[in-house]
Amino acid sequence: MREKLVLERAREEGWALAFNDVRLRPAHSEIMPDEVNLETMFSRNVGLKIPIVSAAMDTVTESRLAIQLAKLGGLGVIHRGLTIEKQASEVAKVKHSLHGLIENPICAKADDTVLSLLNSRNEKGYSFHSFPVIDDDGKLVGIVTQTDVLFCRDYNQKLGEIMTSNLFTASKGITMDDAYEVMMKNRVKVLPLVDENGKISGMYAAVDLRRIMDGSAVNYNLDDKGQLRVGAAVGVGNEALKRVKRLYEKGIDVIVIDTAHGDSKGVIDTLKRIKNRYPKLDVVVGNVSIGDSAKRLADEGADGIKIGQGPGSICTTRIIAGVGRPQLAAVYDCARVLEGYNIPLCADGGITYSGDITIAIAAGADSVMIGSLLAGTDETPVEIVLAQGRQWKSYRGMGSLGAMKQHKSSRQRYLQEGRREKDLIPEGVEGLAPYRGKLEGVIKYLVGGLKQGMGYIGVKDISELRENTEFDRVTNAGINESHPHDVNITEEAPNYRGR
Ligand code: XMP
Repeated sequence: MREKLVLERAREEGWALAFNDVRLRPAHSEIMPDEVNLETMFSRNVGLKIPIVSAAMDTVTESRLAIQLAKLGGLGVIHRGLTIEKQASEVAKVKHSLHGLIENPICAKADDTVLSLLNSRNEKGYSFHSFPVIDDDGKLVGIVTQTDVLFCRDYNQKLGEIMTSNLFTASKGITMDDAYEVMMKNRVKVLPLVDENGKISGMYAAVDLRRIMDGSAVNYNLDDKGQLRVGAAVGVGNEALKRVKRLYEKGIDVIVIDTAHGDSKGVIDTLKRIKNRYPKLDVVVGNVSIGDSAKRLADEGADGIKIGQGPGSICTTRIIAGVGRPQLAAVYDCARVLEGYNIPLCADGGITYSGDITIAIAAGADSVMIGSLLAGTDETPVEIVLAQGRQWKSYRGMGSLGAMKQHKSSRQRYLQEGRREKDLIPEGVEGLAPYRGKLEGVIKYLVGGLKQGMGYIGVKDISELRENTEFDRVTNAGINESHPHDVNITEEAPNYRGR
């Protein structure tokens, strides 16, 4: 990325600028906002259709939000306040929510009862209803579908008694196109695949294939098997390695080593151990805010770097510890130092309006991670609450007292693992985010604002936005002029909340 005049001068003189210290200059444009391409990378091998990643926080990202965000083209990072098993099962829910080829379908045994199948489906949170039935040698003997269960009067019956055994199957290796043809022609909802010995070796589901084939999934963020992409946060040390093992077994796309201080020995050792054991698994590491720190992580094998020390809406690190770096300066510094490395950078925290996304990318980020603006959506794992006559959803820092008391992982994130409860030093606050309805609506305005910005600058994609944008340093007067002024707002705009 080439030097940005204003940012470079500030960098040389030791002025650390924040998003609100600048605006982007318009330039000659032959691009309409709807023509821009927002595809980018979160890590070396994990792409995004839109440059938005959700924060690994216990009030933001579990499977529900991750599924929806991946369908909108982004990526959710499942937080690590969950036990290893629970986090792995949240990942599995995302991976199982949509399939091209289901490589390892969840199977049942002919001797299992209907009740035991339904219980296990409930416990594991599977959203699908069709289970291939196999014998002790793994040979396919039938299939149990929703219809079979619907017409079963006695749940103590064995699956072997209610399953459909007259089956359409195809051989392992059939292409997705051919499988789709077979299913459409014969009106079958699932197509189990078998190898030369009759053993189950995969499955296709018609609803998923239909979405992929008819183009309604073109904007989904999918892996190469046609499953939604998802990330998960881990900490450091042996516990992190155990977590990665289970997450890897569930098909995780990218691991995020999620700490408040990425440039530390424990993080780098953990990165090396993970990369050593899983060389093909992408690992994003953070958080840092200094170019030299980003370089150290890159040199140690990070596949992506997350930037942000203290910009978050619920963060108090810079106030409590006196340490951190305004986010614009942090992003630019890391991007300049990593020039030529080809390692994606994610700007984590401090996005308050859609325009901040445009600014973060123009300063060198490839994507942004967002907490507060997504925290009010339907898809977060918390309930709506009523206060002051309005609807809210709780949102808290992972370094807040509440989160640190509840999660060992939060204490570890803020380097306080060994402390007693009464000795904890919080680095975040607990609060309420205004309720914002469906995630889709919020993302529409964030992406829409970014596209408008790209139209003003005349850039057709994310790499041009990073490369070809110039900044103006603005004063407080400039910022005041930028926000609505001298009017009483009578109708709230859906994409603007007053300061
Ligand atoms: P936003 O501004 O989108 O920021 O709400 C979300 C990011 O903030 C970080 N985070 C914290 N930082 N104390 C901190 O200093 C905390 O308690 C805390 N909790 C989350 C995190 O990087 C997240 O993605």
